[in-house]
Parts: sequence; C-alpha cells; structure tokens
Amino acid sequence: MNEFFNKDIISIRDLTKENLESIYDSTNKIIEMDPTHRRELARGKSLGYLFFEPSTRTRLSFQSAMALIGGTSFGIADVSSSSIQKGESLADTVKIMSGYTDALVLRHTLDGSSRFAAEISEKPLINAGSGTEEHPTQAIQDLFTIKKELKKIDGLKIGIVGDLKYGRTIYSLLYGLRNYDVDVHLISPEALKIRTDSTYDIKKELSYTESENLDEYIEDLDVLYVTRVQKERFPDEEEYMKVKGSYVIGNDIVKKMKDDSIILHPLPRIDEISSDVDSMQQARYFEQAEYGKFTRAALLALILNKDGF
Ligand code: NCD
Repeated sequence: MNEFFNKDIISIRDLTKENLESIYDSTNKIIEMDPTHRRELARGKSLGYLFFEPSTRTRLSFQSAMALIGGTSFGIADVSSSSIQKGESLADTVKIMSGYTDALVLRHTLDGSSRFAAEISEKPLINAGSGTEEHPTQAIQDLFTIKKELKKIDGLKIGIVGDLKYGRTIYSLLYGLRNYDVDVHLISPEALKIRTDSTYDIKKELSYTESENLDEYIEDLDVLYVTRVQKERFPDEEEYMKVKGSYVIGNDIVKKMKDDSIILHPLPRIDEISSDVDSMQQARYFEQAEYGKFTRAALLALILNKDGF
C-alpha cells in the first residue's frame, strides 16, 4: 500500500523528507504521463472543497488537478450561498461533504480548523490554509518549484521577505525546509517578524537569520520568496497601514540579484512585486502557480490510489 493512501494532509510537519521527495517524483510522473492513462487515476472519484476564505489559485488548482486525473470536484466556494449562512456548524458541513465525496479540501480562517475537521471527516482531508497556521500544499508546490527550476534544494541561500508573522505559507515552507541543508534569511519589518511560538520547532533543525534589511542579502540569494502583507489578519487597521508597502521588489532590486536566482511568491501579489519584474528572467511566480496543479494532482492520485501509480 502506498503511504499516502487515505492520508490527511494537515501539516507539512507530518511529512518526512522521503514523503516530500516521493511527491516530487510523482509530480514529475504526472507531468510526463500519457493523458489517457492519467485520467484513470481518479476515474469515478470526487473531491469536495469547502472554502471559508477567498481563493483563486488554491481552489482552482485543486479543481484542475482533479480534472487532470479524471475525477470531478464540487463544493462551497462562497459560504454566503451555503447553509453555513443559516448557522450550520463546521462539523456538520464537513460530515455531510465527506458523505458525498472521496476526499475533502478545507480552507478556514481559524488555526486548528483542519485538524478538527479531519477528525470529523470520514474521508481524507487536505488543509488548504488554516488561519495563520499552515498551508502545506503551497509549500509542497514551492519546494517542487525550487527543485524544478534550480535542480536542487540543498546548498541554496533562500531569502523570505514580507509578512512573516501572519503568512501561513511561510510557516509551512520553513517546516518543509527543515528537511534540507539551506541558509535561510528572514527579512521583515520588526512588527512582522516570525512568531516565536513556532520558531522553537523550526530552530532545532534550520538555521536562519532575521533582519529588516533586504540589501544585506540580495546579491547572494538563490531564491527570493516574497509574500503579501496579510491585511485581513491584522487586529488593527492602523497597524497594517504602518507596514503596508514595506518592501516593493522592483527591477532596481532584481538587477542586483544573480542571473540564475529565482523569485517566488505564493500570490496574490498586491504591490510587493512590481509588474515590470514579470518579464525578468528571475521571475518564476507564474510557473510556481502552474506547478501547483501538478503537485496537487500527484498528491490526490496518491491519496486516492491504494497501490500508488
Ligand atoms: C496564500 C494564502 O492563502 O495563504 N495564497 C495562496 O494560497 N496562494 C497567500 C496569500 O494569500 O497571501
């Protein structure tokens, strides 16, 4: 039996390095596979999605991933059009959805929501973003992108810039990077530094520096991972106004980067990467978004097929 069969994907901390490597291998297999054969992987199966927060890429890439492997997907993209609006609980919604489908994807505003929902669901559940806590499939896609574009992860210098306090993609990425031998530089305004409740775990296996100054590192980086300031998570709008626009990556900054370095962003971007960077050779965030379809297809195919593929 393949080890992902029927498995919940709640935190990237639950995956070993071997697990991650086997997802990358399966993703490459999915990309290369003949389409007819690929469509057999989820034939007759359905994926149910429950999105309590806005999403473009995550939901659509899960849907396109499911279509790629021959399955169907349906769900709730807007809670105001569902019985949640009438007051139905998360537990009941998950229970009902798990009776209609073969796997579930959940995005929710609360930390801990996915772990809770996975206990209720009779079907495997994938966390597509739980509050400020984690977004494991984004990190899988990010790590796969690094490996695909730079041919390795070990030995790289990775700068992560922006909202390190509220950005859940950062936490999953850092937990994932613990499996590799990398130098990480965290760059943020003082008010958006990484939360110390999570660094205890990260520090044990990953060495990183913290700074407010991107200029110190920019010339040496292999990967610049940019994030959006998470406006919706600020308890106080005034605090947001103070840090909004702290880092804007424009072509003046990118020109200082190595030619073979890459810029990633989980997207959506607001103003943290200017659009003139899009045509520069370092920009890989659109490729990164597209890889998400294939990494998710691989993960779903592994979760749905007992003997793998
Ligand atoms: C991220 C998220 O939802 O955490 N988006 C995504 O899934 N690609 C990042 C963000 O919203 O800034």
